[in-house]
Amino acid sequence: MDNQGTFNYKVVRQFAVMTVVWGVVGMLVGVIIAAELLWPDLLQGIPWLSYGRLRPLHTNAVIFAFGGCALFATSYYCAQRTCQVRLFCGPLAALTFWGWQIVIVLAAITLPLGITSGKEYAELEWPIDLLIAVVWVSYAVVFFGTLAKRKVEHIYVANWFFGGFILTVALLHIVNSAAMPASPWKSYLAYAGCRTRWSSGGTATMRSAFFLTAGFLGMMYYFVPKQAERPIYSYRLSVVHFWALIFTYMWAGPHHLHFTALPDWTQSIGMVFSLILLAPSWGGMINGIMTLSGAWHKLREDPILKFMIVSLSFYGMSTFEGPMMSIKTVNALSHYTDWTVGHVHSGALGWVAFITFGCIYYLIPACSGGRRCTAYG
Ligand code: HEM
Ligand code: HEM
Repeated sequence: MDNQGTFNYKVVRQFAVMTVVWGVVGMLVGVIIAAELLWPDLLQGIPWLSYGRLRPLHTNAVIFAFGGCALFATSYYCAQRTCQVRLFCGPLAALTFWGWQIVIVLAAITLPLGITSGKEYAELEWPIDLLIAVVWVSYAVVFFGTLAKRKVEHIYVANWFFGGFILTVALLHIVNSAAMPASPWKSYLAYAGCRTRWSSGGTATMRSAFFLTAGFLGMMYYFVPKQAERPIYSYRLSVVHFWALIFTYMWAGPHHLHFTALPDWTQSIGMVFSLILLAPSWGGMINGIMTLSGAWHKLREDPILKFMIVSLSFYGMSTFEGPMMSIKTVNALSHYTDWTVGHVHSGALGWVAFITFGCIYYLIPACSGGRRCTAYG
């Protein structure tokens, strides 16, 4: 079967290449702001290179440009391979690629100019938000359209994670970005006071839960077994993992809002659900790591599996640390300290970026007619 003709690899390749480009840009900006923390006067006098403007540029570039392109690339590849059909509606898939790149370029221009809604992880102004909504709805149509026309009866578990991620991010983006435009580049948030904090705390968790976790678990469930050439350790566990994670994460949001104006009982619910979250998170990590049983020897030589095992280890560490930090007495110590930033990067750099590196090393040759990199060359 001529896979290059049967499947739409073009859009996968485009997203995969842009993952690399935006990864370099986003992490470079991370290095610049890290340097600014150390030498506050480094770029003094240039407002658009100041720490306050570059920091949201870093978070947006790494999460939505680097992470987003990786999620598009891997979900489009996985859906086609596991459903054994070509991607639904090629032109719409192309629109998601170009639309997403325009969103990123607009973010890269507006954030350094100081054009921002001021809401963490949802900083982009309303015209860009509208474009994101169009791209995201198109993404959902392409992804679920592909699942709908599948030739295989079963929907492989990785697609459940990708699907959950697409739906929750759509819901989150539309609800959380509601704003009243005042001019082409200025708007006022629809929610006031405590409700703003609630919805942005929700954003913080939903971003880490669904953007930085559920979709990347989809990657794990497809690419780890593929590269290890072993079936997933327990398919039953993966299904329990999916439902337990989706259900529990939804309630954990207030762990970002301890000791705020949010009602105390809400904070306690956030804490309890965050503690419960340890179980499904570790269930998933164990499922990923145990998939390598019988293939441990490949870790010595296989660069892709090396990235993946490091990533799974960080997933385990950050999902142990997170529940601990959600305990109110611990959070009283950790909040507003570098501990949070450390936790963020153990999850976002250790888990998210490393699983992405592994998948990109897999994808680019696979979509370019090249030879996949394995333990034995
Ligand atoms: C070379 C790699 C990286 C470097 C040098 C770096 C550096 C930084 C620095 C200096 C900050 C600000 C810390 C502070 O305010 O005290 C930061 C924040 C952040 N970074 Fe990175 N970063 C890197 C990679 C990543 C990646 C890959 C991701 C996500 C996929 C990420 C997500 C974030 C987030 C979400 C924040 C905000 C944290 C918070 O508000 O608590 N970073 N990063
Ligand atoms: C069981 C899983 C997890 C739990 C219960 C959890 C819990 C927490 C807690 C309690 C905080 C500190 C909130 C604060 O004091 O402001 C936090 C911050 C954060 N976590 Fe996690 N975490 C988990 C996993 C992860 C993972 C896997 C990632 C990334 C892939 C991640 C990304 C973040 C980010 C980006 C922040 C900073 C948000 C901000 O800017 O305020 N978390 N998390």
